[in-house]
Amino acid sequence: MKILVVGGVGYIGSHMLKRFKETNYEIEILDNLSSGQKENAQNYKLYVCDLLDKQTVYKILSEQNYDLVMHFAASINVEESYKNPKKYQQNNVINTINLLECMKDLKINKFIFSSSAAVYGEPEHIPVTELHPFNPVNPYGDTKAEVENALKSYEESCDLKYMSLRYFNACGAHLDGSIGEMHKPETHLIPLVLQVASGRKKHIEIFGDDYPTQDGTCVRDYVHVMDIVEAHMLAMENLVNTNKSQVFNIGNSKGFSVKQIIQMTKEITKVDIPVKILARRKGDPAQLIADNKKITNILNWNPKYSDLETIVKTAWNWEKKLKIQ
Ligand code: UFG
Repeated sequence: MKILVVGGVGYIGSHMLKRFKETNYEIEILDNLSSGQKENAQNYKLYVCDLLDKQTVYKILSEQNYDLVMHFAASINVEESYKNPKKYQQNNVINTINLLECMKDLKINKFIFSSSAAVYGEPEHIPVTELHPFNPVNPYGDTKAEVENALKSYEESCDLKYMSLRYFNACGAHLDGSIGEMHKPETHLIPLVLQVASGRKKHIEIFGDDYPTQDGTCVRDYVHVMDIVEAHMLAMENLVNTNKSQVFNIGNSKGFSVKQIIQMTKEITKVDIPVKILARRKGDPAQLIADNKKITNILNWNPKYSDLETIVKTAWNWEKKLKIQ
């Protein structure tokens, strides 16, 4: 099977590529290098191209006979999505439609989509099942919900079969220490707390301690990137075997507060982490925890690295490496 990995040199895509090294699949990458690093291509063929350039995307897809496309490329910063909604509509929605249009014309009908728990917004119940209605509370979440809706239309119109994988909070780094999370600017909690531990940052800002949670800080479902990658393998194999579109939460079904993350980081790094309490950040739900029964039952997915200790330890190894670079 020949697979195109779009956004393959970013955080999650690069872990996927490393997993593909253990298989016989034929892999190629398409990435605009806007946030990923080309060294992450790991000797796979890399087309440097933006999905906005539909003509070039069409040309590549028409020449290469892919059986399946995995789509990781997206803008993911919630705060930025308020400031620059056009960028989010363009990168996340229009560019995905460009890709789907090319696939439709070329009859490539298998697609794995990186969706997000952000489609649920402030959940009506915890844990959140896949049947929870869409209610995004920020423009980033809107774009992921828009694409999920579009996927249903494409299934109707051209028999596209897809897996839509709703990530909760992706985190951690590869166990072998070679790759990890690197966003510019970094906005995610775990890498930022670790930057304080390594001395690259003076303190961590906590965005609100007056939420209706146990300690007043937001609760999230942190899931290790290597477990996310394994979910993609299983989802892809299931899609090929059953030819049936499905939606899955990828989460750990356990929630940790911002303060618990800071506490675990202190224990692992043995460094004190100064904090400053700030006002709430716009677009942050109080709690997001996945119900992961569907993926564990249907795909036999079994997260191996998503305990908080492994998450923070692997991310810490990676941060120490980033610091000396
Ligand atoms: N936080 C802080 N201080 C920081 C950074 C984050 O207090 O410096 C808090 C946030 O307010 C939030 C929690 O830590 O409560 C986690 O924040 P992240 O920015 O790490 O992650 P988000 O939960 O905002 O978003 C992530 C992904 C989204 C995805 C979402 C789904 O970035 O793409 O998880 O759960 F939609």
